Amino acid sequence: MGVGGAHPGGLNLTKEIFYSEKISRASRILDVGCGTGQTAAYLAAHYGAKVTAMDINPIMIEKAKSRMMQYQLPVEVIRGSIEDFPLKDGTFDFILSESVLSFVNKPRALKEIFRLLKSGGRFIANELTTNNKLLSSNEEEIKQFYGLDSVLSETDWVDLLEQSGFKNIKALIQKSSMLQNDSTPEFQHSEYMDPGLYTVMIQHLNILVKYQGILDNRIFLCTR
Ligand SMILES: C[S@@+](CC[C@H](N)C(=O)[O-])C[C@H]1O[C@@H](n2cnc3c(N)ncnc32)[C@H](O)[C@@H]1O
Repeated sequence: MGVGGAHPGGLNLTKEIFYSEKISRASRILDVGCGTGQTAAYLAAHYGAKVTAMDINPIMIEKAKSRMMQYQLPVEVIRGSIEDFPLKDGTFDFILSESVLSFVNKPRALKEIFRLLKSGGRFIANELTTNNKLLSSNEEEIKQFYGLDSVLSETDWVDLLEQSGFKNIKALIQKSSMLQNDSTPEFQHSEYMDPGLYTVMIQHLNILVKYQGILDNRIFLCTR
């Protein structure tokens, strides 16, 4: 539908998280599953960092490229999958995934992210987390609707990050509800939008209401 930022908390939360990180013009940053490239553009414009944005979806790549062209930002936009991304080991100082890991094979993606980070590099993720053990019917509903293989708790995420080799893992709960997004919404509408997408959007909002207080997003910060 051309939603500019598709993660809970929006660009304001992204700005807040990066404020505490030591980013310089020399930093190499990878935005995994960049969508339309809103965060990648911000990191390049605000910090002057060397940013690579990648996504598996060709429409997202097209939109991200047109955004970088419009604002004349030197962001490299590459199509690929984070489960197998052919760049050299130890390329990046920071890797970011905003609402992406939940949708992929998590151990494979985390192995790739670990490999692509420099030693001492930082991985920052903003991911869907369940606060309670879900009834299996509820878990099935969420998995089916979003196409997930699992719905992880904070402990599950931390275990997975540890198993993938990450250290100094911190988990922070997002302060606002998943239904709030403090950033001004931004849309880069596609020329043709399947009318079925409106139904999907309504179903998504219904799920957020139904699982308010049960599903939250967590920010995971860790070091390679
Ligand atoms: C919920 S959107 C989040 C987009 C963006 N990070 C944001 O916050 O606006 C999830 C994104 O992950 C991308 N994605 C899904 N599977 C992927 C994979 N295996 N590798 C890279 N990107 C993937 C989708 O195409 C989509 O753009």
